[in-house]
Amino acid sequence: MMSAQQMLKVFVTRRIPQEGMKILQKAGMCNLSVWDSDEPVPRAELLKGVAGAHGLLCLLSDKIDAEVLDAAGPNLKVISTFSVGFDHLAIDEIKKRGIRVGYTPDVLTDTTAELTVALLLATARRLPEGVEEVKNGGWSTWKPLWLCGYGLSGSTVGVIGLGRIGLAIARRLKPFGVKRLLYTGRQPKPQAQEVDGEYVPLDTLVRESDFVVVSCSLTPDTQGLCDKTFFSKMKKTSIFINTSRGAVVNQEDLFEALSSGQIAAAGLDVTTPEPLPTNHPLLTLKNCVVLPHIGSATYSTRGVMSELTANNLLAGLTGSEMPSELKL
Ligand code: NDP
Ligand code: DGY
Repeated sequence: MMSAQQMLKVFVTRRIPQEGMKILQKAGMCNLSVWDSDEPVPRAELLKGVAGAHGLLCLLSDKIDAEVLDAAGPNLKVISTFSVGFDHLAIDEIKKRGIRVGYTPDVLTDTTAELTVALLLATARRLPEGVEEVKNGGWSTWKPLWLCGYGLSGSTVGVIGLGRIGLAIARRLKPFGVKRLLYTGRQPKPQAQEVDGEYVPLDTLVRESDFVVVSCSLTPDTQGLCDKTFFSKMKKTSIFINTSRGAVVNQEDLFEALSSGQIAAAGLDVTTPEPLPTNHPLLTLKNCVVLPHIGSATYSTRGVMSELTANNLLAGLTGSEMPSELKL
């Protein structure tokens, strides 16, 4: 056990599942300060809370930039984020200061892929509209063309970013009878063979796919990738799905594409901003299904993410090997 003076200061920016908190408490080396709420820590409280910290456990909703790092000061050794995405972290600034970063790859891959498939099917087969019609009396009788949508059987699916989650989505979609599986990325992936994936230019993917699924990371190259030009190349019968980050999409252009009939429908688990304001134009459209960023939201996955985030943090504090360290 460390003496009170030797304890390392750790700031946790949110209430997290107990699995991770128990690990941090049991380690007996952390002087824990927690923003004990289900809501994001206000910026001023983040700047105050991080002062002098050796470790920072944060969420994807916390922007960790030079201002936060300056407020933390030179003690800061490790940032452990409760997410696989790290676009909220100013990586160059973090690297410059020699701070290590932990994140949560793999443990949420299956859960996020499962949600992506659910969103794709819900969007393509118009499930939210159907449920609403049952409730509001719109269901008058069985009608040949009422609530018809699009199916996966015999279709072409295009995955933008065949990474851990992209591949897991492809694996799940293939058994639905998908005929062609196209993908784009920075380079061809040997693991694409498993799903008979064809590496194609983005332009080909967008033009030929019946379902365009975005599962890449948010980077300067992918920011705003799905814009007016992108949607104008899609078929009128195609479905657009995004479970990566909202900023990959230009939402004004998506609204235009959906409301003008340029594309058939869209399913989004991520938006800009989050939460999407309830009066946002996208929410007025029947052919747009919006979920509140729940890709990894199962009890067990969030518990494992919490454990991994805590273990990454402790390894960073003690200078040992992290279970999942981001290579900077
Ligand atoms: P990976 O790093 O395994 O995959 C990211 C993929 O994006 C890589 O294949 C990468 O390709 C690709 N990529 C990068 N730049 C481009 C580009 N310019 N064009 C096309 N593809 C590109 O990460 P994960 O699969 O684990 O996670 C992916 C993202 O999913 C996360 O960054 C996060 O934003 C999001 N996510 C969302 C969740 C949700 O709740 N909705 C849950 C979990 C994650 P390459 O390998 O060639 O670099
Ligand atoms: C992530 O981990 O990046 C997701 O967006 C939430 O699990």
